[in-house]
Amino acid sequence: MTRIVVVGSINMDLVTQAPRFVGPGETILGERFLTVPGGKGANQAVAAARLGAEVALVGAIGDDGFGQQLHGGLAVENINLDHLVRLNDSASGTASITVADGENQIIVVPAANDCVTPAHVEHAQSLIARADAVLVQMEIPLETVEATVRLGHRLGVPVILNPAPARALPAEWLKLARYVTPNQHELAILLGADPAEDFRNLMRLAPAPVVLTRGAEGAWYREQGEPAHQAGFNVDVVDSTGAGDTFNAALAVFLHEGLATAVRKACAAAALSVGKLGAQAGMPTLSEVEDLLAR
Ligand code: RIB
Repeated sequence: MTRIVVVGSINMDLVTQAPRFVGPGETILGERFLTVPGGKGANQAVAAARLGAEVALVGAIGDDGFGQQLHGGLAVENINLDHLVRLNDSASGTASITVADGENQIIVVPAANDCVTPAHVEHAQSLIARADAVLVQMEIPLETVEATVRLGHRLGVPVILNPAPARALPAEWLKLARYVTPNQHELAILLGADPAEDFRNLMRLAPAPVVLTRGAEGAWYREQGEPAHQAGFNVDVVDSTGAGDTFNAALAVFLHEGLATAVRKACAAAALSVGKLGAQAGMPTLSEVEDLLAR
């Protein structure tokens, strides 16, 4: 069984489905409200577990009602929570999400996620040493992201760095990651480049191999030479929240099958994930991904 360690955020998502996004100072009537588990780290852990991997999550929750619900939801997915810290003096992370026409707007309040430290990552060293891949995103402190890529590199375990939400990072960190997985906007911010630049040129500038997500258009990937394209799968979109997390998780789970196959399966998994409201609701099982690929 593929072993994945995820270092990342855990949020309660407060999701409002609305006919459109609001402007400043405006009030409109929404259609539906849901309180559902999310956070990029937790989402990636859940997606990897549903795809059949043995998953451990390094992260933090508050000692509050949301924290209890989030812990329960992760336990149901059979995720190893030995390195999940419950903090007495912090609230759990939250994300206020508006979904309109399949697009989303998100405001994250990290709260407990800001207390995931390099020491937590070091503490999980023996687990990371046995992993086939490590996933890390950027809703936790950047020093913890750095500690994760450095530890993975030192142990010879591939780290997939999902640079979301985007911030510029030192080139040295990027070189330590096995793959960096931005969308076009995130890649431009990451490199301090012009967002209007052609994404294939940006990929050539990146100091590490890049797997670039393009939503419904699929993904591009480049280790050396010219970027290659994997087309997206045609599906009806209810809510794209968590599609990137599902993509990253599948990439990690299937990486041992080679990059081209992993990207194809990641595109299929991400496509299946957008059919339901809520980040984790549509995340597919392995057999659902195989069914889509066989169609
Ligand atoms: O990637 C989607 C996630 O981003 C949501 O679940 C939300 O919690 C934010 O972290």
